[in-house]
Parts: sequence; structure tokens; C-alpha cells
Amino acid sequence: MDLELAGKIAIVTGGARGIGAGMCEVFAEEGTNVVIADMVPLEESSKFAAELSKKNNVRTLAVRADISNPQSVDAIYSQTLEKFGTVDILMNNAGKMGVTRIEDVTVEELYKYEKVNIEGMFLMSKAFIKICNEQAKGGHIVNTISKSAFTTNSGGNTPYIATKGAVFSFTRGLAKEVGARGIFVNGIVPGYVITDTTRNLKDRSREMKKIIPLGREATPREIANVAVFLCSPKAVQMMGAIVDVSGGTML
Ligand SMILES: NC(=O)c1ccc[n+]([C@@H]2O[C@H](COP(=O)([O-])OP(=O)(O)OC[C@H]3O[C@@H](n4cnc5c(N)ncnc54)[C@H](O)[C@@H]3O)[C@@H](O)[C@H]2O)c1
Repeated sequence: MDLELAGKIAIVTGGARGIGAGMCEVFAEEGTNVVIADMVPLEESSKFAAELSKKNNVRTLAVRADISNPQSVDAIYSQTLEKFGTVDILMNNAGKMGVTRIEDVTVEELYKYEKVNIEGMFLMSKAFIKICNEQAKGGHIVNTISKSAFTTNSGGNTPYIATKGAVFSFTRGLAKEVGARGIFVNGIVPGYVITDTTRNLKDRSREMKKIIPLGREATPREIANVAVFLCSPKAVQMMGAIVDVSGGTML
């Protein structure tokens, strides 16, 4: 199936590593030009961007940015518009994860989760919609939620769970608000995904396998395949959809 994404421009937040890097790879293979917006050192994301360009003959851009900082968000969009003139797709993927017992959570700590998981997504989405409005065009937003927003079998991470719950509600609310303008907003719900951050947590991996009907954790690309499909004109009936990509963990 041709996803009809060749030549489009996609911004992927947290695109240098993990699920976001998987999204960048899948987009590039579909011929989509990719903007990697990540807070890792620019050398790392620039190297990845160059590899994607060389392998797939697409144009790429790496921007060092913290999505919770309004100036960083401005920089992502100004550099994107300078290079590409437009943007078609926003993957709100960067997120702050972590485990903190309720007894130890301070308001300051809670705010760090809110800053990235809610404010970052909000700022990125608002700026994306502004461009769609100015250019009188539609677009696609995909938000990375988490099974933690729905099932709490990991536990001990209420700030993360609560902010991911907000991503779920934001996704549906925004879809209702801007869907009629041709701006598609959908969410994906990963369960347990092997990334550099989670790879070495061997005990966790053993425990997780017991509760994942598929019997193993997901790879970033397995999540990315579904997320990228949601940006295709072929997914025209998906609006405000919350797509379970948890290997059955949500059951
Ligand atoms: N890994 C899992 O098991 C899992 C499960 C469910 C949901 N998720 C969600 O998937 C998303 C991606 O997670 P991952 O597992 O790929 O993580 P990861 O740590 O492997 O990669 C996250 C990337 O985001 C970047 N990033 C973090 N905060 C940022 C910020 N403020 N601004 C810009 N970039 C930032 C990091 O530098 C990193 O490159 C997150 O929203 C996470 O909550 C992950």
C-alpha cells in the first residue's frame, strides 16, 4: 500500500532516540522529509539525520530543542519553515518518563512532568495549527500516550500516569476542535517498548513479559509503523482515534 507520504514534511519530537527514532526511520523510508527535534547534543541528531538522508534520499533537519521551552519551539518551527517552507505532520512523541513514589513527589517534580508531557505537546500543537491556518491547509498530529494512562500495572509513577492521561484527553479534545478543518489528531498507546532507556532493566523485562499477551516488548519500529500510517490519507477515517499498540497489554 502506498501511504502517499513521499515529499511531505514531518516534525518528530524526541526523534533522535527510541520510538521517535523509529518514526523518523519509517517516515524516511516512505520518502517523507524529516525534522528531528530533540534535546540530545546536535552532533548526535545531525549524524542520524545525515544517515537517514543518505539511505533514503530524503531531506532532513536536526534541531536541538527542549519542547517545554517556548523559545525552543519557536526555533523548531522557524528552522523548519526556513528549510522546507511548510510542515505537514507533527509527531508529539517526546515525553518525560520516570518512577517516583507519591511520598517523594514534590510539586516541583510534578511540574517537570507537566512541562514536557503537557506544555510541550500544547506548544508544539498550537504552533503547528497556526501554520496550518496561515497556509490554509490541513495536517496530521499524532500524540504518543502510554498504556499507563489507562492501566496502572507499572505503579509508583503517578506524575507520569496523570500527565499521560492529559495527553489522551488533549488528543480527543483537539481532534473535535480542529478536525473539521482537515487537521487530523490521533493518539497511539504503546505498552512496553525496548529502547536504550529500558533495554537494561532486565528485571522489568522479565516481569513485563508475564503481562504482555504478545509475550515480548515492542520494538520502536513496530510502534512507528502504526503511528506513520495514521498520517496517511489512507487513514482518513481515523480522527481522535486512540490506537492500542501495546501487544495486548491493555487487555
Ligand atoms: N518505552 C516505553 O516502554 C514507552 C511506553 C509507553 C509510552 N512511551 C512514550 O513514548 C515516548 C517516547 O519514549 P521512548 O521510550 O522512545 O523514550 P527514549 O528515552 O528512548 O527517547 C525519548 C527521546 O525524547 C527526547 N526528549 C525527552 N524530553 C525532551 C524534551 N523536553 N524536548 C525534546 N526532546 C526530548 C530524548 O532526548 C530522547 O531522544 C514518550 O512520550 C514515552 O512516554 C514509551
